[in-house]
Amino acid sequence: MDNRPFRSVLYIPASKPRAMDKARGLACDAIIFDLEDAVAVDEKPAARALLARTLQDSDFGPRAKLCRINGFDTEWARDDLDALAPARPEAILLPKVNTADDIQQLADILDSHPGTADTRIWAMMETPLGILNAASIAAAPRMAGFVLGTNDLAKDLNCRFRVDRLPLQCALQTCLLAARAAGIVAVDGVYNAFKDDDGLRAECEQGRDLGFDGKTLIHPAQLDVANASFAPDAAAIDLARRQIAAFDEATTKGLGVAVVDGKIVENLHIVTARQTLARAEAILKLQKAL
Ligand code: COA
Ligand code: MG
Repeated sequence: MDNRPFRSVLYIPASKPRAMDKARGLACDAIIFDLEDAVAVDEKPAARALLARTLQDSDFGPRAKLCRINGFDTEWARDDLDALAPARPEAILLPKVNTADDIQQLADILDSHPGTADTRIWAMMETPLGILNAASIAAAPRMAGFVLGTNDLAKDLNCRFRVDRLPLQCALQTCLLAARAAGIVAVDGVYNAFKDDDGLRAECEQGRDLGFDGKTLIHPAQLDVANASFAPDAAAIDLARRQIAAFDEATTKGLGVAVVDGKIVENLHIVTARQTLARAEAILKLQKAL
């Protein structure tokens, strides 16, 4: 897994040209152009054509671009892929993934068109069966990342919303285990109350603590909170630098262990420290290029 930032992953309905245009000036690390749930049935054909045109004509800079198609359980999935292929989509996000076979089916279709030869696959993890199969889905061909679909999952589990998301913890952590085992990205689900910054911040912090790379968002007003929560802060960067310096010094003395702030620092902590610095650098580089 490289250090490409996925702190803020903004959903944009592909039926909204103004919102798509606006995204070119927004501080989001990634965009999900949505043809699925954010687009009404009557709008699907127009949205699909508009998205294909937009991908070909507009420059979204270094932001990662994912296209969420409709699921294979609908009549629209194939048409979505046919329309997008000439635009050489960077990534297709498949909803309602239940098994690795769903990914293989999509990979076979992508294989069949030269426009999608390099297209990566992302999976919406949002069904009970999908969560139970997370490990094999993460390891399937072309897989680059998971997006948690916590609204759909809560619906299927029949669980209730809780601030601590206790009913979802097993699913969230199962997806994280599978993503990390396969070396792919894992992005947390949306926070529906898009005017509640404090609630969003708390949920971002929880996602970050669990190990997620970032959060999916529904409104531009949520960008700053997610970007801050999923970036290494000044204290983390300072600690990483001091750990590396102390460990280097210990090594030159022939020691395998250092102590920083009263805590032991071993080689494995140095791996994390270097990753923290690399992430911070990747974020700076992206920000400069936006
Ligand atoms: N991406 C980019 N721009 C967005 C945006 C988004 N997701 N949501 C809103 N905007 C833009 C609007 O176009 C508007 O721009 P303008 O002032 O230049 O016209 C501005 O931000 C303010 O929008 P606002 O009036 O506050 O929001 P709204 O009431 O029009 O829409 C939502 C609210 C929730 C319907 C809308 O944000 C949305 O459609 N979000 C995405 C939903 C989605 O994709 N769901 C599927 C995954 S869960
Ligand atoms: Mg969903």
